[in-house]
Amino acid sequence: MNESALKSSEITLDVEKVRADFPILQRTVHGKPLVYLDTAASAQRPLAVIEAVDGFYRNHNANIHRGVHTLSQEATEDYEQARIKTAGFINAPSEQEVIFTRGTTESINLVAHSFLRPRLKAGDEILISWMEHHSNIVPWQLLCEETGAVLKVIPMNQRGELEMDALADMLNERVKLLAVVQVSNALGTINPVAEICAMAKRQGVPVLVDGAQAMPHQSIDVQSLDCDFYCFSGHKMYGPTGIGVLWGRYEHLQAMRPYQGGGEMIRHVTFEKSEFNDAPGKFEAGTPNIAGAIGLGAAVDYLQGLGMQNVMSWEAQLLAYGTEKLAQIDGFRMIGTAAHKAGVMSFVLGDIHANDVGTLVDLHGVAIRTGHHCAMPVVEFFGLPATARASLGIYNTFEEIDILADALEKTIVMFA
Ligand SMILES: Cc1ncc(COP(=O)(O)O)c(C=O)c1O
Repeated sequence: MNESALKSSEITLDVEKVRADFPILQRTVHGKPLVYLDTAASAQRPLAVIEAVDGFYRNHNANIHRGVHTLSQEATEDYEQARIKTAGFINAPSEQEVIFTRGTTESINLVAHSFLRPRLKAGDEILISWMEHHSNIVPWQLLCEETGAVLKVIPMNQRGELEMDALADMLNERVKLLAVVQVSNALGTINPVAEICAMAKRQGVPVLVDGAQAMPHQSIDVQSLDCDFYCFSGHKMYGPTGIGVLWGRYEHLQAMRPYQGGGEMIRHVTFEKSEFNDAPGKFEAGTPNIAGAIGLGAAVDYLQGLGMQNVMSWEAQLLAYGTEKLAQIDGFRMIGTAAHKAGVMSFVLGDIHANDVGTLVDLHGVAIRTGHHCAMPVVEFFGLPATARASLGIYNTFEEIDILADALEKTIVMFA
């Protein structure tokens, strides 16, 4: 597709209006307008989220679930409303299946500790894929060390797509969990998660989906995916840091032991024994990130206001444009060329080290990520020490991709 065709076709998001919602996009970096292409690491926040957090602290701040006074009741109401909104956003059958955590990392660790640990014995297997973030590798390695279980890795091809035939061969009665990323942060690959869940289900294997990078880019329906657990982070989807979600099937959650002990998660305590709350309370020990949850609820409202179909369509156009534009640069090589991709463009530029690329484009106001992206096995698979990664969000424009391309051209000239 050429530039003009792309620019005129199907533009579904009023990007200038969206940009006006993000105060940080007004700032400059090294005297240039900020071009933020690091949304996969952490998205920027719209005013609606900033104001929701600010409004909580200004007007309703109190602890939740335990006070009879007005502020405590208002704070509880706002916190629980955020849970209801989040449940609706992922089409969870019940808000009681939505557990607030610190983020994807904590959600995965919670499942490792409370769901899988008690079921695992020596010789059992845990399946993950080659393109996992470290947060979906290390918790399982720790469990394997403790129990003598074995971690098995689904291979991928040179385009960065999972080998589905290999997965079919690897599913057997020894596998106690399959944990897989929906959208790879290092490659942008969108994995066929519904198909993967169906394959696992036929073998009776529960599936955890790491949805950290999927949530900001596409609409998610945990019922149609038919997974067992779905994990994500607020800060990747335009919400606050320090808040995330574990969605789990209620029957699993009720059968699981608590993750942490403390206040809030109990029904009755004596020195001899404690009786635990039902989910989600059982998994939310101590005072939670109340403002964070409320901010996440505001992010959900914001994304729903834009419409996830519009978000997807806009980002698909940007990705197609960027893929074609950057390919014209001498020495540019895209890492991750899957047929189905979300807005991530990982690349190398000749033999210039990725950190040098990142540092030099920053001088043009362009923020990209460089390194292994917390997915070391992925960059090693491609025989690289690191890649540079431009990742897209709802506020990015075609012009910003042109600015990135121009900054990359100048970087090449500097190193010539
Ligand atoms: C695919 C994926 N999974 C998990 C994580 C971990 O998320 P968090 O650091 O918010 O817990 C990330 C963060 O980059 C990610 O991209």
